[in-house]
Amino acid sequence: MTDLTGRTALVTGASRGIGRAVARRLAADGALVAVHYGTGRAAAEETVAAILAAGGQAFAVRADFGVAGDAEGELDALFAGLEQGLAGRSLDILVNNAAVIDYSATIDGATPESYDRMFAINVRAPLFVTQRALPLMRDGGRVVNVSSGVTWFATPEIVYAMTKGALNAFGRSLAHTLGERGITVNTVSPGITETDMNGWLSEDPEAARHVAGLISLGRHGQPADVGDAVAFFASDDARWITGQTLEVNGGLLLGPPRPR
Ligand SMILES: NC(=O)c1ccc[n+]([C@@H]2O[C@H](COP(=O)([O-])OP(=O)(O)OC[C@H]3O[C@@H](n4cnc5c(N)ncnc54)[C@H](OP(=O)(O)O)[C@@H]3O)[C@@H](O)[C@H]2O)c1
Repeated sequence: MTDLTGRTALVTGASRGIGRAVARRLAADGALVAVHYGTGRAAAEETVAAILAAGGQAFAVRADFGVAGDAEGELDALFAGLEQGLAGRSLDILVNNAAVIDYSATIDGATPESYDRMFAINVRAPLFVTQRALPLMRDGGRVVNVSSGVTWFATPEIVYAMTKGALNAFGRSLAHTLGERGITVNTVSPGITETDMNGWLSEDPEAARHVAGLISLGRHGQPADVGDAVAFFASDDARWITGQTLEVNGGLLLGPPRPR
């Protein structure tokens, strides 16, 4: 465990999956965590309740990043909720985690609508959430972006891969810009992890076995496997690391598939 006592964090997409694991870990380390959600209010409240039950501190904030017409209004609501919850404290840690994948957005199936929606949630939101968060953030703070291994391995979901490539580029340039404030910016790039985004992993044992054969450590990921890596970048231990991307994937595609 790293000590984040007295620190504050905003984790986007913390109602479920990897974001929930990040929020729980940062709170377990002592941070007050703003648990962001888009539409899953009940799930966000479950995340907050789990943190409180474990003796931590958290509150929920809402913004739908996929809204085409009033993206600004959604951000206004998010930051009003954040500032209310922080009650005058600065922000120490921002985790840009929320994202969607549209499995139909292949080279044949992509539409302007699916393209715009994924770029709005996966790329536009991290940019403008960060822009709004920076005035609240103290010097020496932390930004961690959650990207994906699809930036380096090929996938049919080409638009999703493009969004994550853009996020990697964002992180590198942002790290350069924010160095003068001592704010580090790093990217955690999960491999195949069991969440709602990958519902097929829990539904299809044969598919899970196949995936395990592609991973040197012999299993797919759990959200906490990624959450713990995010917590490292959020901690003081990572003070001299910025502009980096860490693959957190159990050794995905390190070599030819292993028989299982
Ligand atoms: N799972 C994997 O194998 C995997 C692999 C590589 C990378 N990743 C990345 O890891 C991150 C977390 O993924 P996950 O698997 O944990 O996903 P998930 O279980 O599907 O959760 C997605 C989260 O994003 C939020 N979100 C979705 N659409 C939103 C919108 N329009 N506005 C605001 N929030 C929205 C959701 O909140 P609501 O439900 O409230 O809308 C939810 O909290 C993502 O960046 C993803 O690309 C995942």
